[in-house]
Amino acid sequence: MIETFASPTRVGEISRFDAETLSGAAAYLGAGQGTILFVVDPRPFPVRDAAIAELAKTKNIAVLDRVVPDPKSADIDAMAEAARELKPEIVIGIGGGSTLDSAKAAAMLLANGGSLDDYLGPNASRVAEKKGPLLVLIPTTAGTGSEVTRFGVYTARTGRKYTLASPLLRADAALLCEELVASLPAPLVAMAGYDALTHALETLWNKNATPLSDLLAEKALAAVYENLRAAWEESNGRTVKKNSSSACFGLLRAANAAGVAFDKTGTAAIHALSFILSEEWHLPHGAACAFFTGAIYSRNSKEAAVAAKLARVARRTGTAAETDSDSTAAAKLGDAFETLRADLKLAARFAELEGFGQTTDARKTAEIVARFGTSLDDPKMKNNIVPMDAESVRAVLEEKLP
Ligand SMILES: [Fe+2]
Repeated sequence: MIETFASPTRVGEISRFDAETLSGAAAYLGAGQGTILFVVDPRPFPVRDAAIAELAKTKNIAVLDRVVPDPKSADIDAMAEAARELKPEIVIGIGGGSTLDSAKAAAMLLANGGSLDDYLGPNASRVAEKKGPLLVLIPTTAGTGSEVTRFGVYTARTGRKYTLASPLLRADAALLCEELVASLPAPLVAMAGYDALTHALETLWNKNATPLSDLLAEKALAAVYENLRAAWEESNGRTVKKNSSSACFGLLRAANAAGVAFDKTGTAAIHALSFILSEEWHLPHGAACAFFTGAIYSRNSKEAAVAAKLARVARRTGTAAETDSDSTAAAKLGDAFETLRADLKLAARFAELEGFGQTTDARKTAEIVARFGTSLDDPKMKNNIVPMDAESVRAVLEEKLP
């Protein structure tokens, strides 16, 4: 697996989750008898909770279970403060993207001090300089890839959402566990899976793309596409086959590969726009990414170099014929992604968003367009292969309004 060599984070795969796995991971990283600090969300999760309880019989453990969705600086600061007292030798984050990002930031703050706000945004006053305690990340959703990236997404006290990037945020090890993603609810599979699809896409049409990131992203994009519908159907209970390797685990592996890919380049326009949608209309991250995918795809795929990459994925997945031109093959792949998005019940127009309603009011339309203005200052927007300006952002938004 090329990802194994391309990622600084060591990635292991396991089928069952138990205390032995957790102590094995700690020992593998060379941890001694120091405190193991778990970062988790407060919802009961029997498999996870049983493993931690079992481990507590033989190890010094502590649990921080206050993780919230879309973690805010204040939440992370409080977590780091509590962790400082515990002096952990190793931090283990188990959960979705918000949990993994929280564990990354708490571990980073333990070593570097200050408030998370000091590190966020264009006016950040500090940068991470020291490596935190050993960090193991274990995803329980199939999508974010956060377990292998140098990125975390946090909401500052100002309410703005920022991506924090630092090699010192990377985990030492990540564990992909089949049992943990075996019973994901369908909407979560759809959102997290589509997020992974956009990670691979935004690697391919990124100004920072390299031959290595292209290789990783093309492979990941094909794998996410090939697994996402089956995982969604599996989570809906329609096609569960006993004793077969689960499609949700296939999606987790694909999403992890997409994480290794976008770790090289960062994301681009879809993500920059999605942050505003999440800030203003509180749409979950994956759904906000899906919202903009078609519009950005149609613009970026007009670049010949991008079309060539997308065409290879289209042929690899059987979405296009070998004889199709690059632009035809890329267009077919874009159509297939839009069909998948609609089948997964992910919105692409404002009128489809809950509580939004129809608007034909020109002033409201202008207000919406104005709110997306700050996306142009986001460094992710500048990664987009096709330059985006106020006019192109307006055009994207107008396609999505009545
Ligand atoms: Fe994302």
